[in-house]
Amino acid sequence: MSDALQALLERLERIRALEAPDRLRERIEALDRLDALMPMDGEPALVRRGQALQARLEAANAAQYQAIRHAIRRGQGRAALQGWWRAGAAGEAACRSADAYDWLDELVGGVLPFEVPGEVGALAPEMVLYQPTPARQVFGLLDRLALDEADVLVDLGSGLGHVPLLTAICTRARGVGVEIEPAYVAGARRCAQDLQLANACFVQGDARDADFSTGSVFYLYTPFTGAILRSVLDALRREASRRAFRVCSFGPCTAALAAEPWLACDDAPAGGRVAVFHVPAPPSAQP
Ligand SMILES: C[S@@+](CC[C@H](N)C(=O)[O-])C[C@H]1O[C@@H](n2cnc3c(N)ncnc32)[C@H](O)[C@@H]1O
Repeated sequence: MSDALQALLERLERIRALEAPDRLRERIEALDRLDALMPMDGEPALVRRGQALQARLEAANAAQYQAIRHAIRRGQGRAALQGWWRAGAAGEAACRSADAYDWLDELVGGVLPFEVPGEVGALAPEMVLYQPTPARQVFGLLDRLALDEADVLVDLGSGLGHVPLLTAICTRARGVGVEIEPAYVAGARRCAQDLQLANACFVQGDARDADFSTGSVFYLYTPFTGAILRSVLDALRREASRRAFRVCSFGPCTAALAAEPWLACDDAPAGGRVAVFHVPAPPSAQP
């Protein structure tokens, strides 16, 4: 273990300008490797060297996250995240497992000041536990959706609000989260408030009772199954008889959406990324 740590330290210490802003990905990946190799009982001098490097890299990341937060508050979040967003969209298909996390999740977790104020309660049967959509999937989806200021993306079962928050930061659309767990809603609202995001909002409640009349895009990362999913899909189908919109899904619920006759898939639902379906405009809504 000590040999591997020594080799890693030598390699990282040789990289010039590792603390520069454009080296964020390398720093995140270096910190991961250091975490894995730093032995609890290793040679003290080597461990001290590793800890000093860790502290330098973490300080550089913290300064960069802070700078991105300032840019978001000035309304320049998209530009500040642009390069990372593109890398995320490109990595969408490249990652081994669709729901695996990577360095982009570290970046988003570092930038967004998430905290869960209070206890999280138990969920009823058919309600799926919180797990955020991997950031590269969110960036890849936003890239494909090409939202504009007329769009409203509604995340049904929004957890801590990654999807509506990144929508509000990276596009001109409005991001809305509907979430049953009050502590997650409070955390998402705090985050939006801290980042001064006027175009992100969070509603606490059951998705079955959501207001389906405003969304131009609905997003579901398998938030519920069985009768709850059926009830939400029925509500969306009723809405689809009045107007056109898109529905996006990630995870196992995609199979249920693909079986809905009133939804057309924009591209064959691939396991590796978020599926995008659209509802054709009803004849009454056509000019
Ligand atoms: C798999 S997580 C998805 C989180 C978020 N959409 C994302 O992709 O980052 C599912 C979320 O749905 C919420 N949930 C489960 N049943 C719900 C319901 N009936 N109404 C609203 N939210 C629900 C859970 O509390 C959890 O936060």
